[in-house]
Amino acid sequence: MKILLLGKNGQVGWELQRSLAPLGEVIALDRHSQDLCGDLTNLQGLAATVRTLRPDLIVNAAAHTAVDKAESEPELARTLNALAPGVLAHEAQKLGAWLVHYSTDYVFDGSGTKPWAEADMPAPLSVYGQTKLEGEQLIAAHCKKHLIFRTSWVYAARGGNFAKTMLRLAQERERLTVIDDQWGAPTGAELLADVSAHAIRQVMGPVQQRPQDAGLYHLAASGETTWHGYAKHVLAQVQWAQQAIKIVANEVAPVPTSAFPTPARRPHNSRLNTAKLQATFGLTLPPWQQGVDRMLEEVLERGSAGKRE
Ligand SMILES: NC(=O)c1ccc[n+]([C@@H]2O[C@H](COP(=O)([O-])OP(=O)(O)OC[C@H]3O[C@@H](n4cnc5c(N)ncnc54)[C@H](OP(=O)(O)O)[C@@H]3O)[C@@H](O)[C@H]2O)c1
Repeated sequence: MKILLLGKNGQVGWELQRSLAPLGEVIALDRHSQDLCGDLTNLQGLAATVRTLRPDLIVNAAAHTAVDKAESEPELARTLNALAPGVLAHEAQKLGAWLVHYSTDYVFDGSGTKPWAEADMPAPLSVYGQTKLEGEQLIAAHCKKHLIFRTSWVYAARGGNFAKTMLRLAQERERLTVIDDQWGAPTGAELLADVSAHAIRQVMGPVQQRPQDAGLYHLAASGETTWHGYAKHVLAQVQWAQQAIKIVANEVAPVPTSAFPTPARRPHNSRLNTAKLQATFGLTLPPWQQGVDRMLEEVLERGSAGKRE
């Protein structure tokens, strides 16, 4: 099987390079790739890449993910998050290829406290959410064989993330305030990549193919927390690992979203109901703490290895 992976160096793209490898030949591109165009702003170049490669599967992990910046560059965000996935959908449909894509809980307005189901009405609060929703719609309209995974609060050991920021601030500062009125589930890029590979195997074979399982799925770790709860969990784990920090978990002060004004509005309720995904693919989604703890171990291990050198 020939797989075209776009956005290979993002949090999810990096993990997909690993999880897709056993499924076939992976051609992984980013926006700087030379021979083939992997730049999502170059719609013609992107189409030409698909026509040249003729992949059996396209996995798109590239996106405009800078939620606040998107408010001041809506056209660029729309090109990356909507028009480019639309082009990939057209090209995949012409080839009879599958298209796997990622979307977000930010398509919802965050009202209520119930976890959002796939059939709930989206009402994005931000340019990022609007453009991601349009991307979903273009894919669903133009490519039958698609999987769209809506996820939330993605982190990875590689690159920057919320947990690492909390760790740094707890080492530097005397006081830490964190938002406690946005609810969701931190979800590891590793989990997203592994579940994607399982789902791809189910829909594409090799034993049997299940095109009837194409569609939109909510995919997030199980359980729920706030950013404040997430920060406290991180610091408690770090204390347990006997790392030097000035602020301990129960000293983190909860504040409302209004304490940190941002250009983009964020949903208060980012909870996702993942029952459809678990039932369709026979998978169990682990509690969010499990992946966060693994990531912290990796980060702390790297930190102490660095000190030894
Ligand atoms: N991060 C989250 O909390 C979150 C939450 C819900 C859903 N999602 C969705 O999950 C998917 C993966 O997100 P992620 O967390 O892995 O994001 P990420 O780490 O920000 O990765 C996005 C990738 O897109 C690439 N990119 C940006 N502009 C590009 C262009 N013009 N052409 C090609 N590639 C370009 C970036 O490349 P550079 O590194 O060169 O900029 C980066 O590698 C996205 O669809 C996102 O919307 C993310």
